[in-house]
Amino acid sequence: KLSTAIMLTAGLMTGAQAALANSELRDRASTMFSAVPKYPPVIDGNELTAAKVELGKMLFFEPRLSSSHLISCNTCHNVGMGGHDYLPTSIGHGWQKGPRNSPTVFNAVFNSAQFWDGRAADLAEQAKGPVQAGVEMSSTPERVVATLSSMPEYVERFKDAFPGEENPVTFDNMATAIEAFEATLITPDAEFDQFLRGNDSALNEEEQEGLALFMDKGCAACHGGVNFGGEGYYPFGLVTRPGAEILPEGDKGRFAVTETASDEYVFRAAPLRNIELTAPYFHSGAVWSLEEAVAVMGTAQLGTELSDDEVQSIVAFLKTLTGDIPEVRYPELPPSTDETPRPAP
Ligand code: HEM
Ligand code: HEM
Repeated sequence: KLSTAIMLTAGLMTGAQAALANSELRDRASTMFSAVPKYPPVIDGNELTAAKVELGKMLFFEPRLSSSHLISCNTCHNVGMGGHDYLPTSIGHGWQKGPRNSPTVFNAVFNSAQFWDGRAADLAEQAKGPVQAGVEMSSTPERVVATLSSMPEYVERFKDAFPGEENPVTFDNMATAIEAFEATLITPDAEFDQFLRGNDSALNEEEQEGLALFMDKGCAACHGGVNFGGEGYYPFGLVTRPGAEILPEGDKGRFAVTETASDEYVFRAAPLRNIELTAPYFHSGAVWSLEEAVAVMGTAQLGTELSDDEVQSIVAFLKTLTGDIPEVRYPELPPSTDETPRPAP
């Protein structure tokens, strides 16, 4: 009886200690990260009305925004596939291969700047880029406005989404509507977020170990906040420059934006939410395994050779960052009319 009592007490002690350890881990994590909110954030100057979000969704899936009538935002940011395309680097107009990996659109609204080099300030500014980029959708603002104006349903929907405007079918409003839709592409309720909100059993022991390592080793210094990144800029290869197969020499990152020598090979710390759904990794898309990507980060950014066990725990933790994927009903797009510009090569 006595031994049972001792064992029970020991058991209780362990339970109490575990709860204490959990709450310490949670308190530390709360100073570095926050949970994805359950509802879309407020965007300055872009009220998320139902009419605007629905129009934005149609435009996101609208291949006639591309000159070929074949490529939509969803081609490279497939919302049924983690919000990206599972390719090392994207394929766009005329089967051209772009230079960089396509980042997920999920939770992109929380990034403080868009693109691997942060060259677009927000999603509305961002959305105008791919439509015009020769290697992506290869269209022009004039062609987009002519296309959308040629379909009466779009004209009505722009009127409803931008009430009071005399000429609501504009390239800027296209981008604003897409931004409104993208703001709804958030993934709340990841296991990590449940842990942060107080559910001790949301992370198992290995995942908790991974979280502790992620903070202790210094990953969190660059990958913090709600998106575990997407905020600051750092040299890729801060301590040791990875080989050209991972960090191609031709892409100097932020240097192209700022033309400052110290910005050579500087990139935005990639957001790590839903990272298990967004292989291959890095702006080059050169690394397919998350284990390898984590090990590369250890040597390149921290000068640390992580052990296999450490890599495993960190990866187990990173997989708890996968949230509820937004349900998106495929929109019905209006038929082309006699006025719709025809697909162009
Ligand atoms: C980057 C949205 C079309 C390929 C991005 C980002 C967003 C986005 C929000 C930044 C994400 C981040 O930095 O975390 C859109 C929208 C599109 C569109 C709204 C339609 C208007 C496309 C298409 C392709 C593509 C058609 C492929 C042909 C890429 C690539 C990047 C990117 C490669 C990274 C570029 C870089 O960092 O330089 N897109 N995208 N996107 N998108 Fe798109
Ligand atoms: C990219 C994890 C430490 C800055 C990444 C990626 C992962 C990752 C998985 C690829 C994301 C993707 O392709 O979508 C980690 C882990 C770390 C760590 C587990 C700790 C062991 C750091 C530190 C810094 C940093 C300390 C800043 C000094 C970056 C940057 C990128 C990145 C700039 C983008 C690289 C590129 O241009 O492709 N990180 N990271 N990371 N991380 Fe880290």
